[in-house]
Order: sequence, then C-alpha cells, then structure tokens
Amino acid sequence: MVLCVKVPLKKAQVVKRFLIGADLFNHDYVLKKTADSILFPVSKKTGIKEMFSFVTFPDVSDLKRTKKKKTSLKAEISKVLSKRELATVKRAFDVTGSIAILEIPEGLEKKERLIAETLLKLQKNIDTVLKKAGIHGTEFRTQKMKYLAGRKTKEAVHIEHGTRLKLDVEKVYFSPRLSTERKRVAEQVKPGESVLIMFSGCAPYPCVISRRTKAKDITGIELNPYGHKYGLMNLKLNKITNVTLINGDVKKVVPKLKKKFDRIAMPLPKSAGDFLDSALAVSKKGTIIHFYAFEDKGNFTAAHRRLKEACKKNKMNCRILRTVKCGQHSPSNYRICVDFKVL
Ligand SMILES: C[S@@+](CC[C@H](N)C(=O)[O-])C[C@H]1O[C@@H](n2cnc3c(N)ncnc32)[C@H](O)[C@@H]1O
Repeated sequence: MVLCVKVPLKKAQVVKRFLIGADLFNHDYVLKKTADSILFPVSKKTGIKEMFSFVTFPDVSDLKRTKKKKTSLKAEISKVLSKRELATVKRAFDVTGSIAILEIPEGLEKKERLIAETLLKLQKNIDTVLKKAGIHGTEFRTQKMKYLAGRKTKEAVHIEHGTRLKLDVEKVYFSPRLSTERKRVAEQVKPGESVLIMFSGCAPYPCVISRRTKAKDITGIELNPYGHKYGLMNLKLNKITNVTLINGDVKKVVPKLKKKFDRIAMPLPKSAGDFLDSALAVSKKGTIIHFYAFEDKGNFTAAHRRLKEACKKNKMNCRILRTVKCGQHSPSNYRICVDFKVL
C-alpha cells in the first residue's frame, strides 16, 4: 500500500508544486490519473490538508514504481551530512521563478553551499539558490537573502495562474505559497466590479484578478517603492490596462480615492486590523472585504471580534460569509482570511 493524496484534476498543478517544494512527494512511485482526479504518492500527510482542504488520503495498492529512482533533496544530502545535521535540515524550500530559497539551520552554515549545489543538480527548473538570512522584520515584510549557488541574481519571473510576475525576491515580499488563495479571491470577483487591493506588493492580486475576471477596475496600494516599481512592470508584462497602482501608505492614500469599492482585499495578516477603518471608509452596502489575520489553531474569534468592532465603530453592519485557512505561520498558528459583507 502506498499513501497517496487524491486531488481533483483542476487543482493538480498547484498541489503538485506544493508537494515537491515541501519535499513530500514520494518519488519511488509514479502518480496515477483517474477520470476526474490524480493520485500523488507522498511520504507523509504533514500540512497537506491544512493547505488544501479538498484532498483525501487513500492508500493505493496498484501504483507503479518509478524506473529511474529520483532522489529527494534530503535523501541526496544525507550522503554528505551526519545524521544529526540531517535532522535539522528543513525539508521545505520555496521556489519563485527559477530561484530556490532555502532555510539553513544554525550550525550548518559550513555546508550550505554543498546543500545548495546538491539542490541545483537535482532540480532542473532551478537556476539560482539563495538562503533566507533574516526575518520579515520591516514594514515592507522583506527578508535579506544570501546568494549560495547557480546564476547570481535575486530577480525572478514567476508564473502564477497564467500571469508573469517579475520581482527581486530580496527587495519585495512575495510568497508563491499564496497562489491558491489569490485564485480563491479572484474566483469570487463578478463582472463589472471595482476592486481595491491594499498592500499590493508587486501586484500578484491585481494581475491575477485582471487576467482571470471581468472586473471593471482594480486599484492597488503599496508602500514599498520597489514593490510598486515591479508592480508597474508586471502590468506591462501582462498587457493589463484596467489596474491603477499607487505608491504610498494605505492610511494616507485611501482618503484621496473618493470612490467606493465592491470588493477590498487586505493581505497584510500581521496588522490588517489597523486598516479596517480605511477599508470601511471606501465600502458601501454589499462590499465584500477579504480580511487576513494570523490566528491560533481552531480559534478564529479574535479576527471576527476585531472586524465586528470596527464595523460597529463606523456605524456599519456586517455578515461573516466564511473563514478559510490559507497558510501556516507556525505549527499552531495559521494565516486565515475572513470574507465578510458590509450590510
Ligand atoms: C504580506 S505582503 C503582501 C504583498 C502582496 N499582496 C502579495 O500577495 O504578495 C504586505 C505588503 O504590504 C505592504 N505594506 C505594509 N504596510 C503598508 C501600508 N501602510 N500601506 C501600503 N502598503 C503597505 C508591504 O510593503 C508588503 O509589500
């Protein structure tokens, strides 16, 4: 019996990318297609259901073995690291365009180049390997990156839902892991909507929404001048004409907008609560707000309370439509999105 993740065909690509990035794909077996789903062999279930609530985990007995055994990063580096060192290596790494971003645990710095070169050899789609060299400390949510191997660049072109997103991974915040969430929001946009994306970064939400929907207009606001610069480039790259990007602080820009929106996304989970007054100032009856927050496992009440208080303060009513988990910040802490309607 082989443990598998059963995924609807439509969602196969995004789940596959996640499984490979998180080193959960079991390369000893060949995936299996059925009429409406795909079975991906996996080494374990960790974190998969949390990311993709629609998957199931059947044990499958008739999977074919791969002819040429592919090696995982962990299996390959086990040849050059001691057991103790290996235990500290994080299995997951992110891939933005052709740049892989590793997390190297303290104490393993001497072997980081060896690990990076091993990854470069193993994954043909990767040209550059960097490592995280700091935390998301600044208000721009950016992180220092150190070059480890391959082509010397920090600029990548990432493909997401048919859009091309160019960015410098050190100067601009971007997480490929949020692509499913961006698609989820885009799928709700109705023809003719006016959409506001606060904290728009290099414009992944505006680009994906513009390309996948018939929104009338989309406005993005971003504080980081580099994020704004790449956002403008991405509009050109994707031949997008219904998006306006503004470089500035949401709190200062919103009062000058002089219009109300049908939909507002607030993708700044660390402090979106501080901007609820701004969002409500450009809302009307029927506006849908996608409010992001970090919350502990199984307890979303703080986010609900926060947005209800803000509505009350602004003399508005609201109805919570749904709350979804869209990422994991730590083992017990989730990135969530509360979709709510202003009444
Ligand atoms: C978590 S990132 C999300 C970026 C982008 N929406 C994405 O999905 O990749 C949050 C972004 O908010 C920006 N930001 C932080 N405070 C801001 C403010 N007061 N006004 C506008 N943008 C802000 C940061 O520079 C950062 O690019």
